[in-house]
Amino acid sequence: MEGGTVFMIDQNELPFTLRIIESHQYQDTCHAIRTMTVRGAGAIGVAAGFAMAQAILQAPKKGWEEFIMNARYEIEATRPTARNLFYATDRVYNAGNGSAEKAVIEAQDVADEDARDSRNIGKFGNELIKDKFNICTHCNAGWLAFVDYGTALSPVYLAHKSNKSIFVYVNETRPRGQGARLTAWELYQAGIPHMIIPDNATASVMAEGKVDIMIVGADRIAANGDVANKIGTLEKAIIAHTFNVPFYVAAPTSTIDLNCDSGNKIPIEERDENEVLYQHGIDREGKLHEVLVCSPGSHAYNPAFDITPANLISGIITERGIVEAEKESILSLFDRNE
Ligand code: MRU
Repeated sequence: MEGGTVFMIDQNELPFTLRIIESHQYQDTCHAIRTMTVRGAGAIGVAAGFAMAQAILQAPKKGWEEFIMNARYEIEATRPTARNLFYATDRVYNAGNGSAEKAVIEAQDVADEDARDSRNIGKFGNELIKDKFNICTHCNAGWLAFVDYGTALSPVYLAHKSNKSIFVYVNETRPRGQGARLTAWELYQAGIPHMIIPDNATASVMAEGKVDIMIVGADRIAANGDVANKIGTLEKAIIAHTFNVPFYVAAPTSTIDLNCDSGNKIPIEERDENEVLYQHGIDREGKLHEVLVCSPGSHAYNPAFDITPANLISGIITERGIVEAEKESILSLFDRNE
């Protein structure tokens, strides 16, 4: 953010166009989060923190408190599952109670801490990746979804940087295709060997023994280690369990919600059916189109996330170390220094 303006990559236009958009007021930043111009747990959190700071900057002298309370409510209603959204609005709201300047500093601190955490997640996660490993990932938990290296992709970037020969299977991640569109784009830019696989190919790829480890991100982690992540994660965890593939979740401690004692308390966002019914893409001339890909007249059910139970998770890679997906280990993270 600079002078009250938030700058965001328009992720809806990727991988075809790389465009930075500007938001001058909190309402526009909310719109960007809701419509997934900016998406991914950490990026949503950072954008929400900046939106909160914008609201505090925008608040009129008369009715200051009411304006800010309403804005906070509006920001928090944009995407209900991502824990980092609430983490960021809470911090910026409290810091900005009386000072817009402090709110802006706090929002920037949230972003800077995310960048530091994502680097540390990479360092711990890299230890799990051996030379010649084939890695599978779901959705996009790279630098587009977080700040800097991302979460699930951070260990991948570090492994590549440390000259390990690695290969990544990228689940396409229907309906919005964050794997096929965003993770593949990130890996291509970084020169990391990879292939996109259809969502329903993960089982056969694992059955053929082609995957050594699966690493995914998280949108919210409950105190007992259950994980909310992009729809399809649960299915991948069950498949990984069946074929004895280690299944890791990478996320900072800011994604852990100690107020949620188990996954069934995590609110799951349901999105517009048109995300399932229609797809966007470019033709051979590079012209963008929206096309109906389902039977006309049929409706679609579109839950954006699912809950993977802790017993299917081999470990949680955080900025403070790798822990088991169970309550005591998770609580121990909060006694550790970074
Ligand atoms: O709906 P999205 O694209 O915002 O989904 C969130 C995610 O990016 C994923 O679930 C991801 O794996 C975790 S976010 C670092």
